[in-house]
Amino acid sequence: MRQPLVAGNWKMNGSLEGAAALVEAIKGGLDEVREAEMAVCPPFVYLDSVGKLIAGTSMALGAQNVAKEDPGAYTGEIAAPMLTDFGCKYVIVGHSERRNIYGETDSLVAEKFARARQEGLIPILCVGELLEEREAGKTEEVVARQLDAVIEQVGIAGLGDGVLAYEPVWAIGTGKTATPDQAQAVHAFIRQRLASHDEGVAQAMRVLYGGSVKGANAEALLAMADIDGGLIGGASLDAGEFLAIGRAAG
Ligand code: 13P
Repeated sequence: MRQPLVAGNWKMNGSLEGAAALVEAIKGGLDEVREAEMAVCPPFVYLDSVGKLIAGTSMALGAQNVAKEDPGAYTGEIAAPMLTDFGCKYVIVGHSERRNIYGETDSLVAEKFARARQEGLIPILCVGELLEEREAGKTEEVVARQLDAVIEQVGIAGLGDGVLAYEPVWAIGTGKTATPDQAQAVHAFIRQRLASHDEGVAQAMRVLYGGSVKGANAEALLAMADIDGGLIGGASLDAGEFLAIGRAAG
């Protein structure tokens, strides 16, 4: 059985005070989440304070990005050991905003994945197609290319140490969610592709869905056979919504 994971990607949102209030509110409702693991991924500068607030709870801490380099002269970057220093369990790599706004390539994302794993972090690898790619019938080709880049770098067993998130770019922050069937079709494709390398990895891999998930649509999405949780943007900034997604995950 794959334990569901519901991870909140706060993106570049919040304040010191707001982050504390949000975490306290989530903590207040954690008991109602039975099966799912809940994680929060605040901006780097709030990792310390959020980490302290969630210490001793069942919640996990994640970061939103990581450098591929070891600590050194890389102005503005954050190295993997710095994240473990602050108690991060997870780190998001290859989010579509990193790929599309900051130009991260498949190979850079793969290197980040490898560096995170080497440090004992669990990378949450995001894959997903642009609207024009979906309309051109290229969804599977794009997702396969993004996955293969990481498999080439770390091998299938190395990929198996991570978590995947399918986030169709056209559904992120747009209020347009993939239908449960649309999402399930891509999740099943991802699992088949993993199975072509290693059946055990395919069966154990948690594949999250992300893109306009909220309390109201979470249950239908999370009921699908190959959807093992969610990577939540906007709705993770609202404790009530985030907890409702957690409850829907089990
Ligand atoms: P939204 O939930 O705001 O659409 O964002 C999804 C996402 O990008 C999570 O990483």
